[in-house]
Amino acid sequence: MTERQVSDEVVREIAELRQEIRYHDHLYYVLDNPKISDAEYDRLFRRLEEMERAYPSLLTPDSPTQRVGGKPLEKFGQVPHRLPMLSLSNVFTEDELIDFDQRVKRTLGISSVTYLAEPKLDGVAIELVYENGVLVTGSTRGDGYNGEDVTTNVRTIRAIPLRLAPDSALSKMSVLDVRGEIFMYRRDFDDMNRMQDEAGLPAFANPRNAAAGAIRQLDSRITARRPLRFKAHGVGRLEGPFVPSTHLETLETMKDAGLPTNLENSRLCHDIRAVLDHYRTLQRIREELSYEIDGVVIKVDSLDQQSILGLKTRSPRWAVAYKFEPIQATTKIVRIEVGVGRTGTLTPVAVMEPVKVGGVTVSRATLHNQDEIDRKDIRERDTVVIQRAGDVIPEVVEVVIERRPADSVPYTIPETCPVCGSAAVRIGGEVARRCTNVSCAARVKETIRHFASRNAMDVEGLGTKLIEQLVDRRLVQNPADLYGLDKAALASLERMAEKSASNILEALERSKNVSADRFLYSLGIPLVGEHGARLLLQEFGTIDALAAKSVDELQTIRGIGPEVAQSVVAFFNEERNREMIARLQEAGVNPIPLEPPPARPDTPFSGKTVVLTGTLSISRVEAKTLIEAAGGKVSGSVSRKTDFVLAGGDPGSKLDRARELGVEVLSEEQFREKLGR
Ligand code: IVH
Repeated sequence: MTERQVSDEVVREIAELRQEIRYHDHLYYVLDNPKISDAEYDRLFRRLEEMERAYPSLLTPDSPTQRVGGKPLEKFGQVPHRLPMLSLSNVFTEDELIDFDQRVKRTLGISSVTYLAEPKLDGVAIELVYENGVLVTGSTRGDGYNGEDVTTNVRTIRAIPLRLAPDSALSKMSVLDVRGEIFMYRRDFDDMNRMQDEAGLPAFANPRNAAAGAIRQLDSRITARRPLRFKAHGVGRLEGPFVPSTHLETLETMKDAGLPTNLENSRLCHDIRAVLDHYRTLQRIREELSYEIDGVVIKVDSLDQQSILGLKTRSPRWAVAYKFEPIQATTKIVRIEVGVGRTGTLTPVAVMEPVKVGGVTVSRATLHNQDEIDRKDIRERDTVVIQRAGDVIPEVVEVVIERRPADSVPYTIPETCPVCGSAAVRIGGEVARRCTNVSCAARVKETIRHFASRNAMDVEGLGTKLIEQLVDRRLVQNPADLYGLDKAALASLERMAEKSASNILEALERSKNVSADRFLYSLGIPLVGEHGARLLLQEFGTIDALAAKSVDELQTIRGIGPEVAQSVVAFFNEERNREMIARLQEAGVNPIPLEPPPARPDTPFSGKTVVLTGTLSISRVEAKTLIEAAGGKVSGSVSRKTDFVLAGGDPGSKLDRARELGVEVLSEEQFREKLGR
């Protein structure tokens, strides 16, 4: 496509869109205070993409659209850290912390020192190099002197500005090394694991491992899909006009430049008592924070004092990490059991001698998958250290090798399904083994359990124990069989009587009038959660209409990506699944079609096309957002199809054209009146 004529107006709109998007990224990631909805943000983003496609010569590498790089890398290059990235020495007790304070004061020859006490984020250390305010490299810590070049991955992280705020002190620095931590919010980590689970993929062990894995992906498109965050906690080289005198000033200046920091949970402390106090506060609120921290980092605040104190080989003398007590305990693995999920995934679980960890008695820990078992060399009858973080399922940290029985052998997940005996295979690059038998009792039980669960068909009374019996006695082999059950068969089961049997039949009867989106969700299609099911049916109304759509058609829906679309199409392509749905319908399951979301209320701009010209008191992007929110469209040029021209100060030729064509012209005031603002 040849590029259209680039007008000043186009240049201005693109610049404004970028500024607007950066502004909202800043509100979201740095200030934790978003002002627009995700949908509005997406609208701005798509408009910018559209404009850049139409005017490729205006595309710049620091545009917010340019975060995802091209082809996967073969391997990472090396990046030298011009100033070494040091680590921290640790203290574990109050006495050791007080010793540190004494040492600092003695070396400086003074009686009081000011410290900054910051949360110690449990993530992955990273260095970002900005030259004249533009991000040029991102690298891992490596051995402290050389790290891996993960620039393309770092660029995908929206919390990391590709350009520092133009009016900030730091954007004038010829070289600035920003050091900080890449990590994940707990809720993002949980959501991600839920999606892994729905896709039948193994869960990530913890947010730290997930973040470390994501930043070291050779394919930046994978990194882009992981919910990574960043917070800065220090600097390396500082070349240019800004010369800070304290560490706090450095952090505040970074924040002003648009870099996320952790200032809200950091405290300036004028003596070591105040440090201890802040340590206790953070320890107390640790579980309430959105992210995991494993201690407090205490730094001498004055940079002059820091340089007097100097460095040891691997760590500075002016800082120390005071780690929290881990929530860990030691116990013995009695045996390793393997569970089978809805999609056939085999998940190993350690059954342990019960032990108290952080006030909770636990006897099971997830072992995730074979890779995890191999990496930690976990075996049956091993004594292990286990750890609980928040309400996450406990996991094995390490094996106490000295206490391993002499006749112990490595553990391998069976190559056959422990439930049905069919082959269990690893497909492609998957870590997980899956049972290949679609009628495997364990899979059927999980499928039924999901189908009947509260947010799906909500068949009250159909619990795990009952499902086990129904499947084991071959009364039920798929969800459609539930509707063929009779009272006598149900009443003959253990712990069932006439009354409870009738209750279940009634619950099944009630479930027939489910809404179509819940019905879709209950089918357990990989990757289709409750939200996705609703999006799909708001668009297509009924399951039958949905089943007839192609991957491309499904993808036109906002929020439905290629993986989900493929999963849906694959499900309906499967003869068995279509048959089951037909049987459910024959049995009287009659899902209520979904209405499209309520249309926007009628406004003077519903369905109208508006052209902007001249200078308005609000930015063009804002004007456009307002018009679109009122159901209108904004177009670049005046034609007979234009309904209104919104003319600001100093209007251009568009106003003349509007007059020529007799298009209604609105002043900004009239525009606001029409909008009722
Ligand atoms: S300062 C020379 N501040 O902890 C000072 N580090 O155990 C080096 N970390 O590699 C780091 N939160 O990745 C500092 N507020 C914080 C931190 C922090 C987490 C990590 C950092 C470092 C490791 C050292």
